[in-house]
Amino acid sequence: MTKKIAILNGPNLNLLGEREPEVYGTQTLSDIEQLCRNEGSRLGLDIDFHQTNGEGQLVDLIQEARKNADGVILNAGAYSHTSVAIFDALKILNVPIIEVHLSNPFQREDFRHYSFVSQAAKGVICGLGAQGYRLALAAIKDLLD
Ligand code: DQA
Repeated sequence: MTKKIAILNGPNLNLLGEREPEVYGTQTLSDIEQLCRNEGSRLGLDIDFHQTNGEGQLVDLIQEARKNADGVILNAGAYSHTSVAIFDALKILNVPIIEVHLSNPFQREDFRHYSFVSQAAKGVICGLGAQGYRLALAAIKDLLD
């Protein structure tokens, strides 16, 4: 059966393209969704792509992925650095999780250097812009095969 990958995006990522393009690039979230769908069909993976600004909604999406997904790619945005609730939800997932950030948080403010998501993720890809999502899909495919 075709494996399904949940790609979950947190707060303010809906504004990609307009938001600090010098940090996050000029691609919009729908460009990134298209890139993921193209790579998913190349790899034979089903893509379930979501964005929410809400912390609780992101917890709900992670809980849904527990039932429906074979792997999770998560860019939790600022919640990566703050959310124990998201960490707790990730800990009860038993599928591989890859954390993605468009920017490289380690070159930025100190408060971005810690990520709760990293504690639960199999791997982390950061600083490579939208290509990070493509690389995360390739990594998940390898992990699932
Ligand atoms: C981000 C990095 C976070 O520090 C920031 O809060 C974001 C985006 C990234 O993709 O580079 O919203 O997750």
